[in-house]
Amino acid sequence: NLRQQQKTPLAGKNYLVTAGGTKEALDPVRFIGNRSSGKMGYALAQALVEAGAQVTLISTVDLKAPWGVKVVTVQTAHEMEFALEQRFDQSDGLVMAAAVADFRAAQVATQKIKKNNGQGLELQLTQNPDLIAHFGAKKGHQKVIAFAAETNDLITHAQAKLKKKNADLLIANDVSKSDRGFGVDQNQVTLIEPGQPNVDLPLLSKIETARAIVKRIIQLTAREN
Ligand code: CTP
Ligand code: CA
Repeated sequence: NLRQQQKTPLAGKNYLVTAGGTKEALDPVRFIGNRSSGKMGYALAQALVEAGAQVTLISTVDLKAPWGVKVVTVQTAHEMEFALEQRFDQSDGLVMAAAVADFRAAQVATQKIKKNNGQGLELQLTQNPDLIAHFGAKKGHQKVIAFAAETNDLITHAQAKLKKKNADLLIANDVSKSDRGFGVDQNQVTLIEPGQPNVDLPLLSKIETARAIVKRIIQLTAREN
């Protein structure tokens, strides 16, 4: 009924959310990583559950999972890709909040890399696949939601990413200010949707930001009916 629909507008929808920074091994004890805490992804998972969706969180971090959320733990971009590949076709949407490392070691050393008489170390890196561009290109009915973390020219870079990733919605995040974004509990983002005016959300807690993003996802979903 209408009342139920208003309370749980995403009932029956299956959402995939990625969270945290991927960790790309250099050797058995070291990895290349980044500053993503995973908090935004977990907040989005919670907000999606509040809206009635079934949520699977593909996560690289060990945070407390929101109630009702299924968590799949991964480390690398490749593991994340595999976990998504197994679930994307049966899903109704993908929220790509993870900070996927752009590069990984061209070769992972099988033994711990040792120092060598004060000499430096040169690492050969190779580019990781762009996961969201892959799923954006192959999507059917799924809603694909991307993030963009930028330190400069936020909107210009974000618009380009929205196109490149064939996303339905992009959340642009200025990571140059230390009071928002990486690691902290609050965030200030701009929502960018093809053919719609950009919406600047105010500086909010991550859960409030997540609820505002989910509101927008609900609008996207409603527009197709
Ligand atoms: N992303 C992804 N796979 C990658 C890199 C990024 O799926 N190999 C996703 C991120 O999860 C995010 C979006 O793409 O949703 C944008 O990530 P970002 O790092 O801002 O952009 P990149 O496309 O990696 O471009 P660059 O870092 O060079 O600015
Ligand atoms: Ca990147």
